[in-house]
Amino acid sequence: MNRPHRAHPAWWAFAVHRASGLALTLFVPLHFWALGTAIDGEAALDGMLRWTDNALVKFAETGLVVLLAAHMAGGVRLLAVEFLPWSDRQKTAVAASAGVAIAAGLLFLFNVTAA
Ligand code: HEM
Repeated sequence: MNRPHRAHPAWWAFAVHRASGLALTLFVPLHFWALGTAIDGEAALDGMLRWTDNALVKFAETGLVVLLAAHMAGGVRLLAVEFLPWSDRQKTAVAASAGVAIAAGLLFLFNVTAA
């Protein structure tokens, strides 16, 4: 199938925005469930938090931070497209959004490994 539009960075920005938006939406109920363990008392919440204290969960959390930062930076870029005068520097804006997402993930990782 011929899909030349997919060669443009803006298409990949769209794909990342959709995938990250959907992934964040799936995460929200999981997050509420985790916070909801507090209803059963301090010990239940502490037990859940202790369970999350392992490398695999930290790795997944890093992915989540990258997705949230990518969605936020990409969302701000889209809002700029919508509300500001048109700029031809869309590739630069896509690259800057990707940079923000990667920087957020790295900052999170440095913080995890320093703790
Ligand atoms: C962090 C700040 C956020 C900003 C600046 C932001 C911005 C945006 C924007 C501008 C759109 C419209 C995209 C378009 O017109 O194509 C959008 C779509 C969407 N957002 Fe967010 N958003 C944020 C946080 C979130 C969060 C926390 C979630 C989920 C829990 C989420 C889920 C979604 C979903 C599912 C879509 C639809 C994606 C699509 O149809 O392609 N967003 N967001």
